[in-house]
Amino acid sequence: MITLADVTVRFGAIEALPSFSLQVEEGEFFTLLGPSGCGKTTALRSIAGFVSLSAGTVRIAGRDVSQLPSGKREVGMVFQNYALFPSMSVRENIAFGLQVQRRPKSEIDRRVDEIAAQVDLSSEQLAKGVAELSGGQQQRVAIARALVLRPKILLLDEPLSNLDAKLRQQLRLQLKELQGQFGITTVYVTHDQEEALSMSDRIAVLNRGRVEQVGRPEEIYDHAATEFVCTFIGEANKLSPRLVGTLVEHGGAELDPAKPSYIRFERVHLAEDAQPTAGVLIPGTVTARTYHGPHSRYRVRTEHDTLQIVLTEGTGLRPQVGQEVKVAIEPTSVLQYSGHPK
Ligand SMILES: Nc1ncnc2c1ncn2[C@@H]1O[C@H](COP(=O)(O)OP(=O)(O)O)[C@@H](O)[C@H]1O
Ligand SMILES: [Mg+2]
Repeated sequence: MITLADVTVRFGAIEALPSFSLQVEEGEFFTLLGPSGCGKTTALRSIAGFVSLSAGTVRIAGRDVSQLPSGKREVGMVFQNYALFPSMSVRENIAFGLQVQRRPKSEIDRRVDEIAAQVDLSSEQLAKGVAELSGGQQQRVAIARALVLRPKILLLDEPLSNLDAKLRQQLRLQLKELQGQFGITTVYVTHDQEEALSMSDRIAVLNRGRVEQVGRPEEIYDHAATEFVCTFIGEANKLSPRLVGTLVEHGGAELDPAKPSYIRFERVHLAEDAQPTAGVLIPGTVTARTYHGPHSRYRVRTEHDTLQIVLTEGTGLRPQVGQEVKVAIEPTSVLQYSGHPK
């Protein structure tokens, strides 16, 4: 549905995207994930037609749109700050694009009412000023304003990042539901890995204008392809070469102590846990515990490493600070990389 082929975007001396390629399938919820400044917005703007390409092509539905002005690409874009017109009513904001297209008033009214109902904005809310709405409602207005033009694709640039944590959680679900309902091909930009994991069909992890990995959330999390992806997504202990050496010695593992090695916090177990554990046992001492409701987090000092562990509450195990424990590490849970961190 969307293909970026060797797209290069420069801002003066900065090469924001060096030969960037990506493919998004029809109907997909596709996320560009990466730290600030890695080129997510630039990639999105390349699709929308808001930046000029130094090289490469953008295709939408099989058609080369590289030279096409933004207004002719049939894309809807929602910005981080919503970019609503503060002095206009909600209705006027949503109607704006149709007005620019000089549609008849009856058609505009009908389409605004239709889309408002679909994104759950009441007729009372339509009459209000934008400033009278909450952040979450404004966000729906911004989405309605994009969707009312019936775009082929929807581009969302960090649409939830101005909202507080609780609302963000709710809106993730709503947004995902809405996307499913419309079946519209969506490219979503975020620096928030949890958001990406929970909402996306597929994720592209970006680093310095380059794609590090593309995959389903589970693939990205369980089989991070690079050290950057492993450390950017989720939480992982970096293992010392000596600890990896111990695993090799006792676990018969095909691990190389010289390579950068990681294990996710929740993949480290304790032999004392009620749940059966397998793997190489390493003695250690609990040095800290924090309680988080459904789970607790521990720091355990072993001979060579201090490991962080996440234990689900309700397994019956609550070791105290100072307690001697045995850490269980399954060598197959270790993630190893050959490259250097970028
Ligand atoms: N209009 C611009 N002029 C100059 N540099 C820019 C411009 N837009 C982005 N950049 C630079 O391009 C790089 C990528 O930026 P951006 O795509 O906004 O990243 P992200 O959205 O991932 O935070 C950054 O180094 C940024 O400073
Ligand atoms: Mg950005």
